[in-house]
Amino acid sequence: MIIYSGKDYNDISRKAANIMSAQIIMKPRAVLGLATGSTPVGMYRQLIEWYRKGDLDFSQITTVNLDEYKGLSGENEQSYRYFMNNNLFDHVNIDKSRTFVPNGLEKDSRKACSDYNQIIHTVGGIDMQLLGIGGNGHIGFNEPGEAFETETHCVDLTESTIQANSRFFNNLDEVPKQAYTMGIKNIMSAKKILLIASGESKAEALYRSLYGPVTPNVPASILQLHPDVTVVADEGALKVIREKELI
Ligand code: F6R
Repeated sequence: MIIYSGKDYNDISRKAANIMSAQIIMKPRAVLGLATGSTPVGMYRQLIEWYRKGDLDFSQITTVNLDEYKGLSGENEQSYRYFMNNNLFDHVNIDKSRTFVPNGLEKDSRKACSDYNQIIHTVGGIDMQLLGIGGNGHIGFNEPGEAFETETHCVDLTESTIQANSRFFNNLDEVPKQAYTMGIKNIMSAKKILLIASGESKAEALYRSLYGPVTPNVPASILQLHPDVTVVADEGALKVIREKELI
């Protein structure tokens, strides 16, 4: 595992974009595993800027996203498909037919999940998987629990997540109660992992994930067992690790 530190969010966004760019340049047909959330937005912005300058070509790239809300169409502004179009795909020369997100409109959860696993296998597996990390150590929608879920599965969102998300919707009924997410095995099968973390709210989770015991109670701790993980974190996210003088 390699840990790169950055002084702030902009710094880690550029560093992460450099690492992702190197992957795209070295393997123009790469399969990128992508994430949503606030952390990767700066990295995506940087990739778009380099694409516009002519330094990056996405024409042969394939992407598979980590997760999607069950019940939301790609046109819904809260869907992760919408997020990806808005924050990256609409601004670069990627072939949208090669960008995959779990099908939120598929009501049959088993089918949605097995279809998505099939897609990941068909595209030949993931070359580089981008991950953010939750304040509780979650990756994708793999929340702390009793066991590591393996492949794509349907998760019930916790009451606090539903409440937190309700601010984006007209009423509580519209808020998705479930999501489809890649499982730990899907993530661990990626050849390389790029984890980005920003801000003190991630500091404890990052410390426990990188230096604590490997346990489903801290889903990201499984990454300690992956052979090729790069972490890019700013000083806020590294606070606990620095205090303990681990780096
Ligand atoms: C996003 C995802 C989540 C986020 C995590 C961090 O596709 O699967 O695991 O990476 O919740 O979110 P932010 O970046 O918003 O702090």
